[in-house]
Amino acid sequence: MKAQVGCSFQNLLCEQLGVGEDYLTNRIQTIILDGKPVDDENTAIVHDGSTLALSIALGSIFGASFRKAGVVASFRSGGAASCISREEAFMKILGIVGSSRKEGVSGVHQLVTTVLENTAFDYELVTLRGKKIGGCIACLGCVKDNICKLNDDLTELRPLIAEADAYVIGAPNYYSALNALTHAFLERWYQFRHQEGDTLWGKLGVAVGVGGGIRYHSGRRY
Ligand SMILES: Cc1cc2nc3c(=O)[nH]c(=O)nc-3n(C[C@H](O)[C@H](O)[C@H](O)COP(=O)(O)O)c2cc1C
Repeated sequence: MKAQVGCSFQNLLCEQLGVGEDYLTNRIQTIILDGKPVDDENTAIVHDGSTLALSIALGSIFGASFRKAGVVASFRSGGAASCISREEAFMKILGIVGSSRKEGVSGVHQLVTTVLENTAFDYELVTLRGKKIGGCIACLGCVKDNICKLNDDLTELRPLIAEADAYVIGAPNYYSALNALTHAFLERWYQFRHQEGDTLWGKLGVAVGVGGGIRYHSGRRY
C-alpha cells in the first residue's frame, strides 16, 4: 500500500487510508510511532521508514500509561503518581471495603482507606457491610447489554463501578480465600465482560487483603 509521508498520523490514517475520525478517536487508544507513544495524532509526523503500532484499549498499567493523553501518561517519563495534582487529575478511584465488620474495628477498612489516602486522586469509598448482594446465578441476562438483571444492593453500586477509573478492593481472608460477601460482589462483575468488555477494559485495580485474629473492643466481639 502506497502512502505519502511527511504528514501527520491523523492525515495518513484518515485522509489517505480512509479510516473514520470517530474510529481513530474512540477505538484506537494506543499509538506507538517509531517506538514512542503518541498523545496527539495531529502533530505526530510519520516519516519514510517509520514504524507504527496501533491498538484498541490495552489492559493493565501498561495500557493506561501508554494510552493517548491518558491520565497516568506521566508514568512513561519515569514520573510517579505524585506528579499529578488532585486538580489536574480527573481520575476517580472507587474503594471497596468487603468486610462486614464495623468501620472502627475493620482491618480492611483501615487498609483500603490508607491506600486511597496515599494516591493523588479523588476517591469514593463504599462498604459492603450490611449490603445484601447475591452471587451470580449464571442467567446470562447481562450478555446483550452488560447489565445484571438481579435486583439487590449491587444494582445501586453498578453506576459507581462503571464510572470509576480505578479500583481499590479490600477483603478479609476467610479460610484462606475471599469472604463470601466480596466474592459475591465480584462475581457480579461478570456483567461487564460482554460486548467487547469496554465498560471496564483497561482500568486499573488493586486488591488488598487482611488476615489474622479477630480484635476485641470493650469486651465485645464485633
Ligand atoms: C469465618 C472466618 C474465617 C477466617 N479465616 C481466616 C484464615 O483462613 N486466615 C486468616 O489469616 N485469617 C482468617 N480470619 C481472620 C480475618 O481474616 C481477620 O479477622 C481480618 O482482620 C478480618 O478483616 P476485618 O477486620 O476487616 O473484618 C477469619 C475470620 C473469620 C470470621
